[in-house]
Amino acid sequence: MQSHGVRPPILLRFILDFNNSWVSNIAVFPIEAEAEAESRYCYNAQQIEGMSMTCAAITGWAKCLPPAVLSNQDLATFLDTDDQWIQSRTGMVERRISHVPVSELGYVAAARALAAAGKTPGDVELIVFGSTTPDQLCPNVASRVQQLLGAGNAASMDVNTACTSAMYAFSTATAMIKTGVVKSALVIGAEVISPIMDWENRNVAVLFGDGAAAFYLEAGDGEEGLLGEELGCYGEVRDILSVHGWGMKYALQGMQLGNSNWEFEGQEIFKRAVTGMVKASADVLQKSGMGIADIDLVVPHQANLRIIEAVAKRSSVPADKMFVNIHRYGNMSAATAPVALVEAVEEGRVKPHNHVLMPAFGGGLSWCAHLFKWGERVEPLGQTDIDLPPCDKTALELVQGIIKSKAPRTLIDGIPI
Ligand code: UT7
Repeated sequence: MQSHGVRPPILLRFILDFNNSWVSNIAVFPIEAEAEAESRYCYNAQQIEGMSMTCAAITGWAKCLPPAVLSNQDLATFLDTDDQWIQSRTGMVERRISHVPVSELGYVAAARALAAAGKTPGDVELIVFGSTTPDQLCPNVASRVQQLLGAGNAASMDVNTACTSAMYAFSTATAMIKTGVVKSALVIGAEVISPIMDWENRNVAVLFGDGAAAFYLEAGDGEEGLLGEELGCYGEVRDILSVHGWGMKYALQGMQLGNSNWEFEGQEIFKRAVTGMVKASADVLQKSGMGIADIDLVVPHQANLRIIEAVAKRSSVPADKMFVNIHRYGNMSAATAPVALVEAVEEGRVKPHNHVLMPAFGGGLSWCAHLFKWGERVEPLGQTDIDLPPCDKTALELVQGIIKSKAPRTLIDGIPI
């Protein structure tokens, strides 16, 4: 496509004239050449030319797990539960509890991903922070990571679709790279869910943990990175996974933030998780003209080993093609799928040019499946000394501290919080 043969349609040209800029990926029509317009829209046309060729290659990847480990036995010291129940019903053995806010976990993961890509903070043009537990709602967490990294050239935004946040962040960053809005991006999936956990409720308290992972994406002209995705939401049943006390609805009601009450219909969420991930996987494969036999590895969201097994069975995925790390970390919400992908690469399960399918599910109820093609390199280019501050408490002590600092429950709108 020659740049002089491309101009935006009339309405879009009006918007351009008004804004004097164009950062959109709206379709364009070839219209007659006009010298003035030619020079004016030349850069835009180059962007469009790039659209058909550009990929968002994953060139850096890293995780950051807080060091404090909370075992099933630890949970049994203050909850009516036991290791046998947790392992047999969920596949979980231990999880991490963070001593720092989510921005710090995300920052360390991002710094490591940058080092793995051989890049510096100044190279980053966009930070997309996927999380449902931001330090603050305003300003957002991405801007804190920008500040900590010193990534002054990066636009910074948060994405919240609960457990699928990092996957939606991948879609956001890849779309922006493919359309020429930016040439590079950090995608972060991070969660520090322990402060808002209802530690008195064994139905949820045993399931979750804290963690983070990050990826560096850069524009390239090969066929790699995110090839396609299927995104969706069962909004009609959004209330079956709901954290009461976490958000503006609860402001100015005399409550203590963090004293949350979880509404969590485990079995219904389980069924929707399986249905959503199976459907999304089938749809993205069909859209991409591929079958499950073309997939080298499936890296699913890790909410329950039985969910993973049900998805594998219904999608006809052999067990050796399913990546599982739920025993180590439990469900880290937005950090789960990205940490699993990083570990799959670290463990040599992702090989050069492999196709990786990532079905995920979370609050909303959001669901999705992402189809990736890995690049040539499976080893990081570099490392960094950037690390978390030391933690001088055990995970159990951290949790006991959270429990102690919670105020007595009050009633809001009839809901105990
Ligand atoms: O990331 C997305 C969000 N999360 C999910 O996708 C989670 C989806 N749901 C699940 O993974 C499962 O439904 C759970 C793990 C939450 C629960 O497993 P389940 O096999 O569906 O158990 P259940 O809710 O049917 O409960 C069975 C029994 C109940 O006792 P009774 O009523 O049979 O006497 C529960 O009270 O197990 C009891 N129970 C526990 N017992 C010991 C529930 N939690 C525990 C526990 N320890 N932690």
